[in-house]
Formats: sequence, structure tokens, C-alpha cells
Amino acid sequence: MSAAPFVIGVFVAAAFQFIFLRGAPGTATVTTSNALLSLFFGGSAALVTFLFREDSSAASKSHSGGTTLASHPATYSYLLKHIGERPEDRALREKLEKLPRARMLGAPDEAHFFRWLLGALGAKRAVEVGVFRGLTTLQLARGVGAGGVVHAFDVDESFLDAGGRAAWDAAGVGARVKFREGPAVEGLRALLLDADSAGSFDFAFVDADKGNYDAYYELCLQLLRVGGVLAVDNSLWSGRAEHPAPGDEESLAINLLNSKISKDPRVETVMLGMADGVYLCRKL
Ligand SMILES: C[S@@+](CC[C@H](N)C(=O)[O-])C[C@H]1O[C@@H](n2cnc3c(N)ncnc32)[C@H](O)[C@@H]1O
Repeated sequence: MSAAPFVIGVFVAAAFQFIFLRGAPGTATVTTSNALLSLFFGGSAALVTFLFREDSSAASKSHSGGTTLASHPATYSYLLKHIGERPEDRALREKLEKLPRARMLGAPDEAHFFRWLLGALGAKRAVEVGVFRGLTTLQLARGVGAGGVVHAFDVDESFLDAGGRAAWDAAGVGARVKFREGPAVEGLRALLLDADSAGSFDFAFVDADKGNYDAYYELCLQLLRVGGVLAVDNSLWSGRAEHPAPGDEESLAINLLNSKISKDPRVETVMLGMADGVYLCRKL
């Protein structure tokens, strides 16, 4: 706690004593009553200073990890108005959010961050591991621009029937998405066998089954060019990544990969607290 109220109180008490309570020349200057009065005014000044001090606790909280969205969740809808989401994309999102298993949908701010990032990177070749209903894929396809391609992997293509694929086509980006149904490890290995694939991708987004996260990380690193970005989703895993409970294999897999990435000399990294945590790795 700051010493300011105490210092101000002492100062006010001393000033009060000096200005108002000096005794006549030759008499004792401090009597019990004027000392008590000084204490009263000094203490009051200290109390007022303490009560109206600037509250630094919010600032220190945000610097120790608490985000504004965590303390003010309603602000999220305000944020969503500023992510550059098109009305038709918002309509699709709101429709998909009402369907079962909507929890698996990518966060809109994260998807739009990727769209923005791909534009900033000048990315033309991207990979998405785990597509679900294609909401983030839509933003990746927008992000790679004309002539770009997004290789998208999922074990279940039928998820796209809920409107995702139709939205890609309506947006004029459907031809940019190369969807492959099946286990993504196999799909990524097949992609790596394609001539000129290794080291040619600008961006990869890993967001599928956690048990294969390490394999996805390794395969995507091979696909990326130097300077390309790999985004690993769910790096915080609703708080379970840090201390996996016994038998919680998914949390353990994420924890192990986070730990490996943080020491990996092949990448330069930063972890974002967005959505469920995103570990961004730039290939060196
Ligand atoms: C969290 S969802 C993906 C969300 C999507 N990236 C988005 O942002 O909307 C995870 C997806 O991974 C898919 N998946 C799970 N295991 C897989 C595997 N072995 N290979 C490929 N996809 C898999 C699931 O079918 C599911 O659609």
C-alpha cells in the first residue's frame, strides 16, 4: 500500500500546528488539546487521501493476467463489432452457434485475426487441421486472397452441410478451399509428398484432436516456409493445460506440446490469451 496518505497526514498535522496553534512567545507550543486537534486534521487528510486514491489494483491485475474480457464479459459483443466481420459472415456464425456442438466452433475474433494476419503476411498457402463447420475456414479463404489456397482437413465432411460450404461458395472463395476428409495426420503426410509442398506454406492452424497435436505440429512445421506462422489452438485448454489431472490425456498432450514449443529453437513464439489460448510460432 502507498505511504502517500501517511505522509500527507503528517504534513497536514505539522502545517496545522505551525500556522494555527503556535503559542504566545515564551509559552509551550504543544498542549494536549492542540496536539489532538493536529492529529484530528492530519488523520482526516490521510483518510481522505486514502479513500480517493487512484485505484491501481485494476491496472496491476491486468498486468498479472486478468484481461478486460475476463472482468467485463459483456464487452465481448462490443469487441465483435470491431473485428471486421461481414454481415453475411455474422449471419452464418449466428446460425451455426444455435446448432448442437457449437462449442467446437472457432472464436470469431480469432478467425478474423487469422484473416488479418494472412493479409499482413501476404499468405497464399494455408492449412487448417480440424475444420468442423467451416467458420474459420471462411476467414482463412478470405485471407489468402485471389489465387490463394487453404488445405483443410477433417474426419467428417458432413459438418459442412450445415451451411459452411455454401457460405464459402456464396463468398466466392469456395474454389480456394481444398477439403480432404479423413485423419489429418494422413492428409498432412500426403500433402507433404506432393511436389513442392514442403517449405511452401505461409500459415497453418492446428485445431483438431489433442492426442495428435504433436504430430500436427511436426508435420505443419515441415510444410511451412521460413517466416511462416503456425497457430496452435486451445493452448490454455480452459485452464486445464497447466496442471493436467491424472488420466486427462488431452490436457497432458497440450501441456507437453506447449512445453516443447517454448524450448524449440526452430520457432520464435508468443502465446495469446485470445479465445482458449493460441500459441503462435514463426518458423525460423
Ligand atoms: C474444434 S473443431 C475445429 C473447429 C474449426 N477449426 C473452427 O475454427 O471452427 C475440431 C475438429 O477436428 C476434427 N477432428 C477430430 N479428430 C480428427 C482427426 N484425427 N483428423 C482430422 N480431423 C479431426 C473434428 O471432426 C472437428 O470437426
